[in-house]
Amino acid sequence: MSFFRNLLTFNSSRYRLQQENEAFAAKIPDGALVLDAGAGEAPYRYLYQHTRYESADFEQVSQKAYAPSTYVCDLKDIPVEDCRFDFIVFTQVMEHLPEPGTVLAELNRVLKPGGKMLYSGPLFFEEHEQPYDFYRYTQYALRHLFEQGGFDVERLDWLEGYFGTVAYQLGGMARNLPLRPADITPGFAGYLLVPIFLFLKLGAAGCSVLFHRLETRLKFQRGGYPKNYVAILSKPAGMQQPRERGAPAL
Ligand SMILES: C[S@@+](CC[C@H](N)C(=O)[O-])C[C@H]1O[C@@H](n2cnc3c(N)ncnc32)[C@H](O)[C@@H]1O
Repeated sequence: MSFFRNLLTFNSSRYRLQQENEAFAAKIPDGALVLDAGAGEAPYRYLYQHTRYESADFEQVSQKAYAPSTYVCDLKDIPVEDCRFDFIVFTQVMEHLPEPGTVLAELNRVLKPGGKMLYSGPLFFEEHEQPYDFYRYTQYALRHLFEQGGFDVERLDWLEGYFGTVAYQLGGMARNLPLRPADITPGFAGYLLVPIFLFLKLGAAGCSVLFHRLETRLKFQRGGYPKNYVAILSKPAGMQQPRERGAPAL
């Protein structure tokens, strides 16, 4: 049974994000100070056991099983000194921030010069953690915001290939297409279309599982678009404080 449950709940975007966290964590020296900014349930904390790991989250989303945060705070005002952290993990959070530029400047403030930050976030995803869901970001918006926040962009890439995006879209179709005749179309035609909708839902569910699996074998990027972007950012080595807003880039 657990084989089928795992098959049906497997999320290839989370698989890719775990890979990104593994690669990021592997480059962090033992004992380095890491901030997980907007940690939530801290799903990747176990990868940072060799570090001194701290977390920050405002813990405002009801019904969410938060891991205990080191700092319960808004990310636009983290109660620590300048340049405290060697590394920052900032994944799947920026879409939830009404003022992303302010938070990026704050993350830049608490990061050491030469320190690195792992970012991920959606280009394409349904509303979630309402009402704290504000934006989706193109790669051009991300580059602009990161540079305005005082970061160098070392890498900006698709998190998952198009198969991961398709898997997500098919999963949504399987869950959300209606089966009640009146929800499909008024009158008798609604009843006639029920078997077709049932077929579409079951087919979409099966194809979603297939595409999630294909995503784990190949990151297809020659067409389509990603569901999320991933980035590695760094704070320039000579930089003690974030730039004033509007000041020229270093
Ligand atoms: C989708 S979860 C991401 C959790 C985790 N980083 C991950 O990758 O799975 C977004 C998290 O950001 C937190 N968050 C949203 N807005 C915040 C804010 N203004 N200040 C601090 N945390 C915030 C939420 O409480 C939530 O735990």
